[in-house]
Amino acid sequence: MCQQQKLYLAPVIVLFLFSLAFAQKKDSCSECHSQFEGPLGDPVQMMKTDIHKAKGLSCMDCHGGDASLDDATMAMDPRKGFIARPKPANVPAFCGKCHSNADFIKKFNPAQRIDQESEFLTSVHGKLLKSGDQKVATCISCHGNHGVRAVADPRSPVYATNVAETCSKCHAKAEYMEGYKIPHDQYEKYKNSVHAKALYERQDRSAPTCNSCHGNHGAAPPGVSSIANVCGQCHVRQSTLFQAGPHKSVFDAMGIGECIQCHNNHEILAPHDDMIGGGEKSTCTSCHVEGDAGFTTATRIRARLEDLVLANSRALDILNRAERAGMQVSKAKFDLGESRDSLTNARVLIHSFSYGEVEKVIKPGLDIALNSYQAGENAMNELGFRRKGLAVSLFFILFLAGLVYLKIRQIESKPK
Ligand code: HEC
Ligand code: HEC
Ligand code: HEC
Ligand code: HEC
Ligand code: HEC
Ligand code: HEC
Ligand code: HEC
Ligand code: HEC
Ligand code: HEC
Repeated sequence: MCQQQKLYLAPVIVLFLFSLAFAQKKDSCSECHSQFEGPLGDPVQMMKTDIHKAKGLSCMDCHGGDASLDDATMAMDPRKGFIARPKPANVPAFCGKCHSNADFIKKFNPAQRIDQESEFLTSVHGKLLKSGDQKVATCISCHGNHGVRAVADPRSPVYATNVAETCSKCHAKAEYMEGYKIPHDQYEKYKNSVHAKALYERQDRSAPTCNSCHGNHGAAPPGVSSIANVCGQCHVRQSTLFQAGPHKSVFDAMGIGECIQCHNNHEILAPHDDMIGGGEKSTCTSCHVEGDAGFTTATRIRARLEDLVLANSRALDILNRAERAGMQVSKAKFDLGESRDSLTNARVLIHSFSYGEVEKVIKPGLDIALNSYQAGENAMNELGFRRKGLAVSLFFILFLAGLVYLKIRQIESKPK
């Protein structure tokens, strides 16, 4: 080959190498399926937003078969591992073939968990699935099959603000849940709760939704022996007090959840002071009766809460009036904040179910509220004093003005 011929060939070789490097692996599955409309073609469209596609995986990685062949029968040959449509009972293993395989998954993301399948199998969903129930949730009920999104994607069906809707597809449907012995009101009740309000209205992602309490894949969240005791994960102070108090052992013996007895599990509403004491709305009177130690404690704590609430509102009222009249009371108002903190604190300490513990914060709170009230009263007294002073000086000014006026008249009326 002469020098000139070599020169002509060079770009051809470079182009050839380029095309090799950029050549897509043949994907006859997508090529052929993209020609269909409906269920046969939709997967190709839906895969465009799929995390698996984004990670370089294809139809064949899930379904098996041979994507290098153009013939339908040969490409979709079960002898080449082709699975058209896994039965519900086989879905966990279908997804788990990768997701339970540490070596495989860690190549994509070293931090990714590989316990979804094993945890799922321990859940009520997983156990019923094994026993032949086809209506329970499997991987694809919660994540979808084509168009699976990263869990951190706000459009994912398992993103915090979408989870409740995803579970409710089955759990809120009376007909679907017919035949099971459990209620179908979890979604409705949850939507009414302080937790849902915090999550949906204030976008507070630390507030729980279904999977925060029930676990992502059915196993209870770490450190929780029973879902009935899941609240302490987040409400640490109340839980610590409860554990040390008189109810822990008796609730355990009665088989009652630590917190849900008084607060419910799904429909947790904003707490109020009527929840303690001897009244109808009290949570204590379902077990304690007049005369027993629990009842006495309940009514005593309630009375002290009322004292503090009243002292706070009296103080705030007079300080507001003084402020509107232009008196300087910002220091007293600031101090009163501390008394309101005592009230908040007392409502937490209720969970010790001990009068002495609650009183420890009520007493100082009351002192502050009384001092603030006093400051308000002083300001109002001073205001009264200033007003009187003003009236007296006004009187003297007018009196003097009158005298001056008379004097002028007297001078003017003198004959010249
Ligand atoms: C030449 C066209 C062609 C190729 C190539 C092809 N398919 Fe298909 N595929 C079809 C047709 C037609 C059907 C529907 C009839 C049938 O089930 O055989 C189908 C059905 C399917 C189904 C659904 C079966 C069901 O029961 O609903 C899946 C899943 C599927 N193909 C996946 C694949 C995968 C994965 C590949 C690549 C390994 C592939 N196909 C390659 C034409 C093709
Ligand atoms: C993440 C794994 C996964 C990938 C990737 C995947 N599929 Fe599927 N596919 C599934 C599962 C699971 C089902 C069964 C869904 C069911 O039973 O509801 C399914 C069902 C189907 C069906 C039957 C749909 C129906 O409604 O009748 C077709 C056709 C299909 N897939 C084609 C494809 C094609 C084509 C690709 C690539 C573009 C692909 N799939 C990629 C998991 C996957
Ligand atoms: C009842 C609904 C449900 C079922 C069934 C389910 N998942 Fe999940 N999955 C979730 C939720 C909720 C998350 C967590 C989202 C988050 O972290 O905010 C999640 C997270 C994941 C993650 C991200 C990593 C992780 O563990 O947090 C993967 C991967 C995953 N699931 C795969 C699977 C597989 C595979 C199956 C079947 C064996 C499955 N899921 C079954 C609801 C479900
Ligand atoms: C061929 C292997 C394979 C199969 C089969 C497979 N996946 Fe995946 N999946 C992956 C890989 C790899 C990732 C990316 C992991 C990462 O980057 O964290 C992933 C990611 C995911 C994620 C997002 C995880 C996150 O942290 O955001 C979900 C959800 C998921 N897969 C669900 C499923 C479901 C449901 C099935 C069954 C229908 C399935 N996968 C089947 C390999 C697979
Ligand atoms: C595909 C429908 C479906 C979806 C989606 C689904 N579930 Fe279920 N779930 C069921 C069925 C059916 C049962 C069986 C009822 C029973 O336990 O008797 C069940 C059982 C349960 C149980 C056990 C109830 C008991 O005490 O027996 C819990 C807890 C549960 N699901 C929570 C969830 C959560 C949380 C989600 C969403 C992350 C979810 N489920 C999504 C269908 C579904
Ligand atoms: C704040 C925690 C929490 C949240 C949020 C939560 N649950 Fe529950 N759930 C519980 C507790 C606690 C129980 C009772 C468990 C027990 O008694 O052992 C329960 C029971 C259940 C049961 C069994 C049947 C029943 O009603 O007693 C199902 C099903 C269930 N929850 C589904 C859901 C669904 C769906 C959501 C979201 C809409 C949800 N849960 C949100 C804590 C929670
Ligand atoms: C994942 C964390 C988490 C879990 C689990 C949890 N909560 Fe909450 N809870 C919150 C957050 C966040 C708020 C909102 C606080 C606020 O109002 O700013 C809240 C609010 C509350 C309130 C209202 C507080 C107030 O002052 O208005 C009560 C009562 C409550 N939760 C009880 C429970 C009970 C009972 C359980 C268990 C069945 C539970 N929580 C489980 C995070 C959690
Ligand atoms: C589910 C039933 C139940 C509820 C609700 C309940 N208790 Fe109790 N409580 C008990 C039992 C049982 C004991 C141990 C037996 C006893 O001393 O009466 C107990 C013990 C106590 C004790 C210790 C009594 C002693 O002898 O030292 C106090 C204090 C107490 N409860 C206060 C309360 C208060 C306050 C409430 C409401 C906020 C409340 N309890 C709600 C069942 C309950
Ligand atoms: C025996 C009934 C009872 C039990 C059990 C109980 N609480 Fe309470 N809870 C109350 C009462 C009463 C209040 C005070 C309401 C008020 O005065 O505003 C309250 C208030 C609260 C509040 C809001 C005020 C605060 O403390 O900041 C939260 C949050 C709370 N409880 C969580 C829990 C958790 C978590 C558990 C379980 C560890 C639990 N509760 C167990 C009766 C109970």
